Amino acid sequence: MTKHVLELRGLPSHIGIIMDGNGRWAQLRGQDRPEGHRAGSATVRRIVRASRRLGIRALTLYAFSEQNWSRPDLEVGLLMDLLKDFLLAERGEILDNGIRLQAIGNLGRLPAFVRAVLDPLRSESSKNHEMTLTLALSYGGREEIASAARDLAVEVKEGRMRADEITAESLRLRMPSLVVGDPDLVIRTGGEQRISNFLLYGLAYAELVFSDKLWPDFAADDLYAAIESYQGRERRFGRVGAPLAPALVPQVPPS
Ligand code: FPP
Repeated sequence: MTKHVLELRGLPSHIGIIMDGNGRWAQLRGQDRPEGHRAGSATVRRIVRASRRLGIRALTLYAFSEQNWSRPDLEVGLLMDLLKDFLLAERGEILDNGIRLQAIGNLGRLPAFVRAVLDPLRSESSKNHEMTLTLALSYGGREEIASAARDLAVEVKEGRMRADEITAESLRLRMPSLVVGDPDLVIRTGGEQRISNFLLYGLAYAELVFSDKLWPDFAADDLYAAIESYQGRERRFGRVGAPLAPALVPQVPPS
């Protein structure tokens, strides 16, 4: 039974998740690290479903970083297999529930057997608009910024834009991760408090929630708790906040 009664107003529109802790989850059970990824894959299913049910407009999952290619071949191979299995198993659910599947990152590095299931599902689901599920695969935030800068450089070189016309927004518009808008809330599981090259540009005003739960243990209730924490925060986007309540205004002693 769920412990949370969520206020459905003021939900974050775009949630990003750094799914960390699979390896430790397995090691704590005396299992090999890949077993943690297998359990983590079941969590992906649960969290996608819970997000869709809540009415979250966009969910971006950091499934594989550009830096993850340097993990042992066996682990990389298993992650690719799990990704393919996930896409095959969830195809019906994705299409039946109006979910648009997107992928961001250096997709050219993915094995052909992953592209063979990923690409058709991306195009089959491209007209769906209930929720956008974006898988960050072979993704790096710095690499995405560099790619947007390269695109702008080409446009300037070809005379389609002037260098002095480049703004923060022109870079933003060239980042596939931000087609669904900046992330409002970014959750990292696994107890570490860092960003690890995820959605760097879009993170400017995101609210961050760090959970000690290892990803395979992260439940719908933990997602609701993160959203509750988000809803309790005042987002100021660099502006001043609402005036302090009278009881909190510092009392200036009479001179
Ligand atoms: C980090 O845990 C997690 C990953 C590198 C991969 C995430 C992959 C999945 C959740 C499963 C497959 C994905 C999909 C979309 C089906 P870690 O191995 O770094 O954990 P550790 O910090 O405990 O070592």
